[in-house]
Amino acid sequence: MIIAPSLLAANFANLEEEMKWFNQSTADWLHIDVMDGVFVPNISFGFPVLKHVARICQKPLDVHLMIVQPEKFINEVKALGAYMMNVHYEACTHLHRVIWQIHEAGMKAGVTLNPATPVSVLEDIAADVDLVLLMSVNPGFGGQKFIPNTLRKIVELRQLLDRTGSKALIEVDGGVNIETGRQAKDAGVDVLVAGSFIFSAPDPAKACETLSTL
Ligand code: DX5
Ligand code: ZN
Repeated sequence: MIIAPSLLAANFANLEEEMKWFNQSTADWLHIDVMDGVFVPNISFGFPVLKHVARICQKPLDVHLMIVQPEKFINEVKALGAYMMNVHYEACTHLHRVIWQIHEAGMKAGVTLNPATPVSVLEDIAADVDLVLLMSVNPGFGGQKFIPNTLRKIVELRQLLDRTGSKALIEVDGGVNIETGRQAKDAGVDVLVAGSFIFSAPDPAKACETLSTL
Protein backbone atom coordinates (compact mmCIF):
# COMPACT_ATOMS: atom_id res chain seq x y z
CA MET A 1 0.00 0.00 0.00
CA ILE A 2 1.31 3.43 -0.97
CA ILE A 3 0.75 6.02 1.77
CA ALA A 4 0.54 9.73 0.97
CA PRO A 5 0.24 11.97 4.04
CA SER A 6 -1.57 15.21 3.19
CA LEU A 7 0.36 18.42 3.80
CA LEU A 8 -2.96 20.22 4.41
CA ALA A 9 -3.06 18.81 7.94
CA ALA A 10 0.54 19.80 8.79
CA ASN A 11 1.58 22.62 11.10
CA PHE A 12 2.18 25.43 8.58
CA ALA A 13 4.12 27.42 11.18
CA ASN A 14 6.76 24.70 11.31
CA LEU A 15 6.94 22.90 8.00
CA GLU A 16 10.65 22.24 8.31
CA GLU A 17 10.08 20.27 11.53
CA GLU A 18 7.18 18.35 9.91
CA MET A 19 9.40 17.41 6.96
CA LYS A 20 12.02 16.00 9.34
CA TRP A 21 9.82 13.19 10.65
CA PHE A 22 8.17 12.82 7.26
CA ASN A 23 11.45 12.26 5.40
CA GLN A 24 12.44 9.56 7.87
CA SER A 25 9.05 7.83 7.96
CA THR A 26 7.62 4.98 5.90
CA ALA A 27 5.47 7.48 3.97
CA ASP A 28 5.78 7.00 0.21
CA TRP A 29 4.56 10.30 -1.27
CA LEU A 30 3.69 13.77 0.02
CA HIS A 31 0.13 14.67 -1.00
CA ILE A 32 -0.24 18.39 -1.73
CA ASP A 33 -3.71 19.99 -1.87
CA VAL A 34 -3.84 23.22 -3.85
CA MET A 35 -7.19 25.06 -3.54
CA ASP A 36 -8.31 28.22 -5.31
CA GLY A 37 -11.48 29.31 -3.51
CA VAL A 38 -13.39 28.86 -6.81
CA PHE A 39 -13.41 25.16 -7.64
CA VAL A 40 -13.64 24.46 -3.90
CA PRO A 41 -14.87 26.78 -1.13
CA ASN A 42 -11.46 27.14 0.50
CA ILE A 43 -7.91 28.38 -0.20
CA SER A 44 -4.90 26.40 1.01
CA PHE A 45 -1.42 27.38 -0.22
CA GLY A 46 0.20 28.29 -3.50
CA PHE A 47 3.45 27.83 -5.38
CA PRO A 48 5.60 30.36 -3.43
CA VAL A 49 5.03 28.25 -0.29
CA LEU A 50 5.32 24.91 -2.08
CA LYS A 51 8.67 25.87 -3.58
CA HIS A 52 10.14 25.79 -0.07
CA VAL A 53 8.37 22.55 0.87
CA ALA A 54 9.64 20.87 -2.31
CA ARG A 55 13.20 21.88 -1.44
CA ILE A 56 13.13 20.06 1.92
CA CYS A 57 10.86 17.15 1.04
CA GLN A 58 12.80 14.04 0.03
CA LYS A 59 9.86 12.00 -1.28
CA PRO A 60 7.81 12.17 -4.48
CA LEU A 61 5.21 14.94 -4.60
CA ASP A 62 1.62 13.97 -5.39
CA VAL A 63 0.02 17.29 -6.33
CA HIS A 64 -3.78 17.46 -6.16
CA LEU A 65 -5.06 20.60 -7.87
CA MET A 66 -8.54 21.63 -6.69
CA ILE A 67 -8.56 24.59 -9.03
CA VAL A 68 -10.28 25.69 -12.23
CA GLN A 69 -8.20 25.59 -15.42
CA PRO A 70 -5.40 23.45 -13.88
CA GLU A 71 -3.63 23.37 -17.27
CA LYS A 72 -2.51 26.95 -16.62
CA PHE A 73 -0.21 25.71 -13.86
CA ILE A 74 1.51 22.72 -15.47
CA ASN A 75 4.83 24.58 -15.60
CA GLU A 76 4.59 25.62 -11.94
CA VAL A 77 3.89 22.04 -10.87
CA LYS A 78 6.74 20.79 -13.03
CA ALA A 79 9.08 23.40 -11.48
CA LEU A 80 8.37 21.85 -8.07
CA GLY A 81 9.78 18.60 -9.41
CA ALA A 82 6.40 16.91 -8.87
CA TYR A 83 6.03 13.21 -9.57
CA MET A 84 2.27 13.20 -10.06
CA MET A 85 -0.09 15.96 -11.16
CA ASN A 86 -3.76 15.30 -10.39
CA VAL A 87 -6.46 17.36 -12.08
CA HIS A 88 -10.19 17.15 -11.47
CA TYR A 89 -12.40 15.67 -14.17
CA GLU A 90 -14.95 18.36 -13.24
CA ALA A 91 -12.41 21.16 -13.82
CA CYS A 92 -11.25 20.16 -17.32
CA THR A 93 -13.31 20.78 -20.44
CA HIS A 94 -10.55 19.20 -22.55
CA LEU A 95 -9.30 16.49 -20.22
CA HIS A 96 -7.56 14.43 -22.91
CA ARG A 97 -5.47 17.45 -23.93
CA VAL A 98 -4.58 18.28 -20.32
CA ILE A 99 -3.44 14.69 -19.63
CA TRP A 100 -1.32 14.83 -22.77
CA GLN A 101 0.22 18.18 -21.67
CA ILE A 102 1.08 16.78 -18.22
CA HIS A 103 2.84 13.82 -19.85
CA GLU A 104 4.65 16.17 -22.26
CA ALA A 105 5.94 18.03 -19.21
CA GLY A 106 7.44 14.75 -17.95
CA MET A 107 5.07 14.07 -15.05
CA LYS A 108 2.68 11.24 -14.25
CA ALA A 109 -0.94 12.25 -14.83
CA GLY A 110 -3.81 11.58 -12.45
CA VAL A 111 -7.50 12.31 -12.86
CA THR A 112 -9.65 13.00 -9.80
CA LEU A 113 -13.39 12.42 -9.38
CA ASN A 114 -15.68 14.17 -6.90
CA PRO A 115 -18.01 11.94 -4.86
CA ALA A 116 -20.98 12.66 -7.16
CA THR A 117 -19.11 11.89 -10.39
CA PRO A 118 -19.55 8.27 -11.55
CA VAL A 119 -16.47 6.25 -12.53
CA SER A 120 -18.11 5.51 -15.91
CA VAL A 121 -16.98 8.96 -17.18
CA LEU A 122 -13.44 7.54 -17.31
CA GLU A 123 -14.23 4.90 -19.94
CA ASP A 124 -12.42 6.77 -22.74
CA ILE A 125 -9.52 8.23 -20.76
CA ALA A 126 -8.61 5.45 -18.30
CA ALA A 127 -5.94 3.93 -20.57
CA ASP A 128 -4.17 7.32 -20.79
CA VAL A 129 -3.82 8.08 -17.09
CA ASP A 130 -1.35 6.83 -14.48
CA LEU A 131 -3.68 7.21 -11.52
CA VAL A 132 -7.33 7.77 -10.66
CA LEU A 133 -8.01 9.65 -7.44
CA LEU A 134 -11.44 9.00 -5.96
CA MET A 135 -12.53 11.69 -3.51
CA SER A 136 -14.06 10.03 -0.46
CA VAL A 137 -15.19 13.44 0.87
CA ASN A 138 -16.28 16.61 -0.90
CA PRO A 139 -12.99 18.40 -1.59
CA GLY A 140 -12.04 21.60 0.19
CA PHE A 141 -11.46 20.63 3.80
CA GLY A 142 -9.57 18.11 5.90
CA GLY A 143 -11.10 16.24 8.81
CA GLN A 144 -14.35 15.13 7.12
CA LYS A 145 -16.04 11.73 7.25
CA PHE A 146 -15.32 9.05 4.64
CA ILE A 147 -18.31 8.61 2.29
CA PRO A 148 -19.09 4.83 2.30
CA ASN A 149 -20.27 4.80 -1.34
CA THR A 150 -16.60 5.28 -2.30
CA LEU A 151 -16.01 1.57 -1.56
CA ARG A 152 -18.46 0.58 -4.28
CA LYS A 153 -16.78 3.06 -6.65
CA ILE A 154 -13.35 1.49 -6.00
CA VAL A 155 -14.66 -1.95 -7.01
CA GLU A 156 -16.35 -0.52 -10.09
CA LEU A 157 -13.23 1.43 -11.04
CA ARG A 158 -11.05 -1.69 -10.78
CA GLN A 159 -13.39 -3.45 -13.24
CA LEU A 160 -13.27 -0.46 -15.61
CA LEU A 161 -9.44 -0.34 -15.47
CA ASP A 162 -9.17 -4.06 -16.20
CA ARG A 163 -11.67 -3.81 -19.05
CA THR A 164 -9.90 -0.85 -20.68
CA GLY A 165 -6.41 -2.29 -20.19
CA SER A 166 -5.44 0.61 -17.94
CA LYS A 167 -2.56 0.22 -15.49
CA ALA A 168 -3.67 3.26 -13.47
CA LEU A 169 -3.32 3.18 -9.70
CA ILE A 170 -6.40 3.80 -7.57
CA GLU A 171 -6.04 6.42 -4.83
CA VAL A 172 -8.59 7.55 -2.24
CA ASP A 173 -8.56 10.86 -0.43
CA GLY A 174 -10.58 12.05 2.55
CA GLY A 175 -11.58 10.62 5.92
CA VAL A 176 -8.99 7.85 5.79
CA ASN A 177 -8.20 6.21 9.15
CA ILE A 178 -7.42 2.62 10.17
CA GLU A 179 -10.99 1.45 9.70
CA THR A 180 -11.80 3.20 6.41
CA GLY A 181 -8.26 2.56 5.16
CA ARG A 182 -8.72 -1.16 5.67
CA GLN A 183 -12.12 -1.11 3.95
CA ALA A 184 -10.58 0.76 1.00
CA LYS A 185 -7.74 -1.74 0.86
CA ASP A 186 -10.19 -4.66 0.80
CA ALA A 187 -12.07 -2.92 -2.02
CA GLY A 188 -8.83 -2.77 -4.05
CA VAL A 189 -7.19 0.62 -3.54
CA ASP A 190 -3.44 1.16 -4.20
CA VAL A 191 -2.81 4.55 -2.56
CA LEU A 192 -4.21 6.01 0.66
CA VAL A 193 -4.09 9.76 1.33
CA ALA A 194 -4.43 10.69 5.00
CA GLY A 195 -4.32 14.13 6.59
CA SER A 196 -5.75 14.47 10.07
CA PHE A 197 -5.34 10.79 10.94
CA ILE A 198 -1.57 11.10 10.53
CA PHE A 199 -0.80 14.68 11.52
CA SER A 200 -3.00 14.82 14.62
CA ALA A 201 -1.65 11.52 15.94
CA PRO A 202 0.71 11.75 18.95
CA ASP A 203 3.31 9.97 16.79
CA PRO A 204 2.66 10.81 13.11
CA ALA A 205 5.42 8.50 11.81
CA LYS A 206 3.85 5.59 13.70
CA ALA A 207 0.37 6.43 12.37
CA CYS A 208 1.88 6.36 8.92
CA GLU A 209 3.44 2.97 9.52
CA THR A 210 0.11 1.59 10.77
CA LEU A 211 -1.53 2.55 7.48
CA SER A 212 1.42 1.17 5.48
CA THR A 213 0.97 -2.25 7.04
CA LEU A 214 -2.83 -2.49 6.84
C1 DX5 B 1 -9.61 17.45 0.86
C2 DX5 B 1 -8.18 17.11 0.50
C3 DX5 B 1 -7.61 15.99 1.29
C4 DX5 B 1 -7.48 16.25 2.76
C5 DX5 B 1 -7.68 14.95 3.47
O1 DX5 B 1 -10.07 18.42 -0.01
O2 DX5 B 1 -8.11 16.75 -0.86
O3 DX5 B 1 -6.34 15.60 0.76
O4 DX5 B 1 -6.24 16.79 3.12
O5 DX5 B 1 -7.74 15.20 4.82
P1 DX5 B 1 -8.31 14.14 5.86
O6 DX5 B 1 -7.46 12.92 5.76
O7 DX5 B 1 -8.18 14.86 7.16
O8 DX5 B 1 -9.74 13.87 5.48
ZN1 ZN C 1 -6.19 15.82 -1.70
